[in-house]
Amino acid sequence: KPKFSNILIKINEEAADFYHRVLISTNAGKPGYNYAKKRGLNPEIISHFRIGYAPKQNNLLLTYLRGQNFKDEDLIKSGLFVQSQNGELFDRFRERLMFPLSNEGDYVVGFSGRRLAKDKTEAKYINSPETEIFTKSKTLFHFAEAKKAARSEKHLILYEGYMDVIAAYKAGIKSGIASMGTSLTDQQVYMLRRITNNIIINYDGDDPGIHAEERATRMFNQVGGFNLGIVVLPEKLDPDEYVKKYGAEKYQDEVKGALTPTDFFLKRLKQKYNLSNDREKLAYLDEAMKEIAQLSNPVEQDLYLNKIAKEQGVAQDSLKVNLTKYRRQQN
Ligand code: UTP
Ligand code: MN
Ligand code: MN
Ligand code: MN
Ligand code: MN
Repeated sequence: KPKFSNILIKINEEAADFYHRVLISTNAGKPGYNYAKKRGLNPEIISHFRIGYAPKQNNLLLTYLRGQNFKDEDLIKSGLFVQSQNGELFDRFRERLMFPLSNEGDYVVGFSGRRLAKDKTEAKYINSPETEIFTKSKTLFHFAEAKKAARSEKHLILYEGYMDVIAAYKAGIKSGIASMGTSLTDQQVYMLRRITNNIIINYDGDDPGIHAEERATRMFNQVGGFNLGIVVLPEKLDPDEYVKKYGAEKYQDEVKGALTPTDFFLKRLKQKYNLSNDREKLAYLDEAMKEIAQLSNPVEQDLYLNKIAKEQGVAQDSLKVNLTKYRRQQN
């Protein structure tokens, strides 16, 4: 890996090493270490993801970096510090487990820090602010590494969170990346498009996660040319919780069983209707036909028509008549 010339990247890289060393080999890092252990992060994982710990004291990173002869002017621009009224600098991240965020070249450009405490008075994660080198909407966690893995795994898997990417990694899936929350951006979609058109979306199984999967699916389809799979985990679990509860193998099965966008849509649609009521069932079938009419491949249309016909006890031929109606309306 070539050496970086940007001073802000240099500072963030130094900070990543600092936080990492604090976590793995100091007394000040003990709370972070215990927390990491409790979350199932083993030494291999900690080292692969360069996970660190920002200690409680509010100027340890500052002192360290000043000792490396970085100028305050640059330290301020790095995003790692906050300034008090009288201009004094303090470490921005304190008592947090630190996840380095890297750019496409795998250089650290910012951080996300997780609080250790359960008490919810502080934000669960705080991030570096936007800087010359860090734009959150153009960043994907684990992107540079996942790119390499995508060559053999033939897809990228999109998660919400850091711990989900890590859980997948532990379960043998190295092509995981995270949008860092549920609001995927267009820039991130284009970043993915350059690597592969096979994308599996696996957001959390809770309501916000499923809604975000619907939104992400629309965004990918708008750009076009993607082959999407959508995983919906049971019991509102997120991938990290799922792997913990059911194990790596079951999780891999969930990924293999990813739904097509149409199956995902139909599954969601079905939940809106009481299908034991004929009036509602007809409304469901009507909506379903509108969706299937959008598919350009007639074989694909037949596949879903057949499935729905069997499932709802109606003739495939009569469904097909409706389909033609919607297709005509479209044109
Ligand atoms: P989640 O709330 O699902 O957290 O947010 P998580 O990933 O499961 O984290 P753990 O397991 O509780 O530690 C998903 C992602 O949204 C972003 C983070 O990137 C997080 O991983 N997020 C969430 C924030 O940036 N800030 C927050 O306060 C919360
Ligand atoms: Mn979530
Ligand atoms: Mn809902
Ligand atoms: Mn989650
Ligand atoms: Mn989680």
